[in-house]
Amino acid sequence: MHYDVLIIGSGAAGLSLALSLPKRVSIAILSKDVLNEGSTYYAQGGISAVVDNADSIESHVTDTLTAGAGLCDEAIVTQVVSKGEEAIQWLMDSGVPFTRNQNTPNSNKASDLHLTREGGHSNRRVAHADDASGKAVEDTLLEQVHAQENIALFEHHIAIDLITTRRLGHTRENRCLGAYVLNRKEKKVITFSADFTVLATGGASKVYLYTSNPDGASGDGIAMGWRAGCRVANMEFMQFHPTCLYHPHAKSNLITEAVRGEGGRLLLPDGSRFMQNYDKRGELAPRDIVARTIDHEMKRLGIDSVFLDISHKPRDFILKHFPNVFASCESFGYDMSKEPVPVVPAAHYTCGGLMVDSDGHTDIHKLYAIGETSFTGLHGANRLASNSLLECIVYGKSCAEDIIKNLDNPLPKVNIPDWDDSRVTDSDERVVINHNWDEVRRFMWDYVGIVRTSKRLARARNRIELLLKEIDEYYVNFNITADLIELRNLAEVARLIIRSAQSRKESRGLHYTLDYPESDPLLEQVNSILDPIRRPY
Ligand code: FAD
Ligand code: SIN
Repeated sequence: MHYDVLIIGSGAAGLSLALSLPKRVSIAILSKDVLNEGSTYYAQGGISAVVDNADSIESHVTDTLTAGAGLCDEAIVTQVVSKGEEAIQWLMDSGVPFTRNQNTPNSNKASDLHLTREGGHSNRRVAHADDASGKAVEDTLLEQVHAQENIALFEHHIAIDLITTRRLGHTRENRCLGAYVLNRKEKKVITFSADFTVLATGGASKVYLYTSNPDGASGDGIAMGWRAGCRVANMEFMQFHPTCLYHPHAKSNLITEAVRGEGGRLLLPDGSRFMQNYDKRGELAPRDIVARTIDHEMKRLGIDSVFLDISHKPRDFILKHFPNVFASCESFGYDMSKEPVPVVPAAHYTCGGLMVDSDGHTDIHKLYAIGETSFTGLHGANRLASNSLLECIVYGKSCAEDIIKNLDNPLPKVNIPDWDDSRVTDSDERVVINHNWDEVRRFMWDYVGIVRTSKRLARARNRIELLLKEIDEYYVNFNITADLIELRNLAEVARLIIRSAQSRKESRGLHYTLDYPESDPLLEQVNSILDPIRRPY
């Protein structure tokens, strides 16, 4: 199959890109599950952007830099933040049903939206669609791509690896030619060739036992890009969201930060507040601080969770602002309007990723990475709430502009061999996959979680090297399955996280280690860059 542009991933990043390309361009969009399954669909709080006259670009830039703890690229921050209003207006014009201000219910101007507030923001700045902003974005953009004849949609198609000239033995410049893809339903590997390939595969939070992310967040794009020769940066900065519902049957149930933005308080079991003892911004301190404080209190008191309480607000207010969170808590037996809800931190966002330039271009010619898969320099050591969807839209658009500039300069075609599975058989030991999957996620949680030590990281490193050996052996001997593809990627990304964490001899933003509890001023603006070509394993 040949397309002008192959987009691997159908979340906010992939769809924004597809809709920003001209209709003469043939596009394939792959999704490894159903089309709307990805983190985008589950986003709650919204999209940060300066659309209010009382707010300013400078203030949004400053908040982003402060949260990023000395590692953001200020030029990129300014570039992305400056495009916020344009991004929101584009989404509104596409039909995203953002919540309007009460007095301008029919306005189609970004400046008339109702804005909510989240941790680390010094103004109300988050455009939202009630508390299900991601669903509103995903549903609307999917409707648009369905209507375009130049876009072919392939759900249940999981990319296995990128095809590059270097892999095919060419010695000149490394160029991406497409990807080998498993059609999960037909159990067949297909070759997708393309002039431009884009990784928009989301993040890797599934590498941890407890996460707010859907099952597919296994870091596939980061692992594929790395194996193909892309540099990866800042993987130690995995963000933990402070408030996921704590209940034995609740899986990935986030309670949006906007609850704290609208007055929600964090409580210990005895009903006392504690955040003010650690940070003057209290419950609205940046996420790294809130998550670490909760973790500290849980360990100090030996408790299973802390509590989030908004029951002092009127029931109507809660139902109006948080209808979905309310319903979700209610389904687990909690009435947010009457009682505090038990919450714990969980892995939420991958701040690091494949290194890209300001158009999303990676180290490999004709290969781009956008959205959570990429490392742009926007988030630094800790992402500011609701800056991720903004990044997805802004980079979807700038990547499209770069592709458009280069559309009419096709490079010589290269013959691509079919996927070779002549030497593999069906596995009789599927337990290996389930066991290793669980093991990686558990030791990552225990040893490479919110609080780290050099000893814990060394333990994790030993284990991941052993597991990767076992997984690689399995991979070369047995037929490929979606579970095996994901496990191989998850383990590779776990190793990247551990290696980056080991290389950072300080605490900064989301990376906190008891062995180096302070930030080192000499490491300000120093990213942890791993290079597969110069420093192979
Ligand atoms: P995703 O939306 O995750 O999409 C990934 C896509 O890639 C999927 O289509 C998947 O099928 C596909 N894919 C992956 N691997 C493969 C493969 N090997 N082959 C083929 N396809 C593949 N951010 C905000 O800014 N505001 C919020 O309010 C907010 N709330 C959040 C709430 C939750 C519960 C979560 C989990 C995240 C939240 N975030 C929020 C973060 C934000 O939602 C994500 O960072 C963002 O949606 C990522 O978009 P994406 O397009 O990069 O990837
Ligand atoms: C939330 O709604 O709390 C999530 C916001 C984000 O991750 O940016």
